[in-house]
Amino acid sequence: MSQPSSASQSTPRFFLKDLSSFPPKERQVIVVKVAKVERKTFPSSEAFDFDAELKKKNTNMVLAMKDGGSNELVGYLVYLRMKRLALIHKICVVEQEREKGVGACLVHSLRQVLEKGGCCDIQLWVDEARKPARALYLSCGFQQIDQCLDYYGPGRTGLKMQLSFEK
Ligand SMILES: CC(C)(COP(=O)(O)OP(=O)(O)OC[C@H]1O[C@@H](n2cnc3c(N)ncnc32)[C@H](O)[C@@H]1OP(=O)(O)O)[C@@H](O)C(=O)NCCC(=O)NCCS
Repeated sequence: MSQPSSASQSTPRFFLKDLSSFPPKERQVIVVKVAKVERKTFPSSEAFDFDAELKKKNTNMVLAMKDGGSNELVGYLVYLRMKRLALIHKICVVEQEREKGVGACLVHSLRQVLEKGGCCDIQLWVDEARKPARALYLSCGFQQIDQCLDYYGPGRTGLKMQLSFEK
């Protein structure tokens, strides 16, 4: 996945690229930046172990980076691919770039890649209290298919959502 993207058609502000397509040295620097944003955004109990998870064969990360060669991180999406099903583990946009279409762009781009590769469903779990995330998933066509009380800890309900795109 390596394609220019934009929230506005005329002025692209960021591009999307798979972590695997960066040279190894740059990859390490980017993962450190991602881990920093992750720690800032999520409670430590939910922080993703990038070093361990990204070593897994079917786990990939798509990055949104600012245009202009600065390699400035705008957002990231981590997913696991299992034949015809993909699971979104994490999606995050840096605070100052939220509500500008970056999250939707990451999800749409993933969908396109998966669709071409013969995948037909994306699933994820989201904390019911994460309203912006739920708004993002609903706007991308996800539907709630299950829920689990205390999924994220006492009193924190998890919602299972799915986007199906089989023709
Ligand atoms: C969830 C998150 C990734 C959304 O990214 P984003 O780039 O701000 O989302 P977009 O600008 O692409 O918005 C997509 C849709 O969600 C809606 N949305 C986004 N943020 C919203 C908010 N704070 N309140 C209401 N709706 C919101 C947008 O209006 C848009 O809907 P539309 O297509 O109907 O206009 C971002 O808020 C974030 O990083 N949050 C912290 C991390 C997190 O909670 N991740 C999810 C769990 S892993």
